[in-house]
Amino acid sequence: MNKFFLNLGRQPLANNFTSYYKKNQPKYNLKLFFNTKTKLVSISKRIPSKIMFNNKYPYRSSMSVTMQNSFKKVSILIKKKFKPKLLLEIGSNDGALLKNFNKKNVIGIEPCKNLANITKKLGYKTISNYWNSKTVSFLLKKNQKVDLIYSSNTLTHISDLNDVFKSIDTLLTKNGILIIEDPSLLECLKKTSYDQFYNEHIYVFSALAVENILKKFDLEIFDIKNLKIHGGSLRYFIKRKKNKKFKVKNTVTKQLKAEISFGLKKYSTYKRFSVKSSKSKKDLLKLIKKLKTNNNIIGYGATAKAVTVLNYCKINENLIDAFVDTTLDKQNKYMPGTKIKILKYSKNIILKANYLFLGAWNFKNEILKKEKTFIKKGGAFITHIPSPKIIKN
Ligand code: TYD
Repeated sequence: MNKFFLNLGRQPLANNFTSYYKKNQPKYNLKLFFNTKTKLVSISKRIPSKIMFNNKYPYRSSMSVTMQNSFKKVSILIKKKFKPKLLLEIGSNDGALLKNFNKKNVIGIEPCKNLANITKKLGYKTISNYWNSKTVSFLLKKNQKVDLIYSSNTLTHISDLNDVFKSIDTLLTKNGILIIEDPSLLECLKKTSYDQFYNEHIYVFSALAVENILKKFDLEIFDIKNLKIHGGSLRYFIKRKKNKKFKVKNTVTKQLKAEISFGLKKYSTYKRFSVKSSKSKKDLLKLIKKLKTNNNIIGYGATAKAVTVLNYCKINENLIDAFVDTTLDKQNKYMPGTKIKILKYSKNIILKANYLFLGAWNFKNEILKKEKTFIKKGGAFITHIPSPKIIKN
């Protein structure tokens, strides 16, 4: 049974950056639910994939050094430990993972044509389709069974999880391995990171929920790695139950235990998160309003997460002067749902600000390292994670 626990208000599509301010931009209710049976946490309103993931999708996986390094590291591990003859990536984006592999050994699945064209041009086989049973039928016609499927930050974007895992099950060889990587619900709750939820993030997974989904397909998690990526993610290593080549490690029990003892099986935990999120909203608004009277505040990183924050907390152009971002497709556009402009990142803009609101708080270490001069000159960052405050290191 799905039980409601948090209302994040009317939210625009989080990656719909427009070059002019659209007063009547479509907005949708963003309400969060906990399924008491499956333990899955999800949003209620489902926007058709075609509206969100099209040939103008602006998000680039390669935009941060942290992400590039993480993809490089996992590629080395995959090659060493699993030696796949053919790896398929669901949601290959701009090729941040693929480019660590030999072109003959990988296939990317990427529905956003602008992104698929990037990897196609680099010479990587890329199929510009959504991940579903139709795409798998197409691959099977070409006799392409796969011995390793990898997917990071993508499966949580697809509404029909049954079809997602059925498609994986169909395509994966008998001893094939599935590796998925997504934000961790436990970390999200611990950090009061309500901003992990937006229209694209239909689900935020826990190991408990993933375990439940896999049962139907005779698949099981045999190892879990906690990652710092995206503010705390889990990398799940999954195999068929019949495959005895890999033992189930105690990292799995450890994660499940941590989730149970934090209360991820209980509805009351989500209600508590809801109360904390609404306090975080009030405190952030109060802090920014107080600082704004005498200061310039610029947003750092025009993330989808920041779009949730701005629209939930009702932070507008009177409170944050502009955002900066290194992504070309976001520059000179507006933060969805607001009149706050996104400027091309430059040191000059940063140095003119007194405070930088960390939109990309998940890359805090990388950003603080990059902006040492700004801090030396008296500047400071504002963050809302784990609670609204000013930080200098
Ligand atoms: P991310 O946190 O991955 O986003 P989302 O919430 O949308 O999933 O995105 C990080 C954004 O921050 C991306 O647009 C690039 C930008 N960015 C910078 O502009 N400068 C930086 O130094 C870093 C690390 C990121």
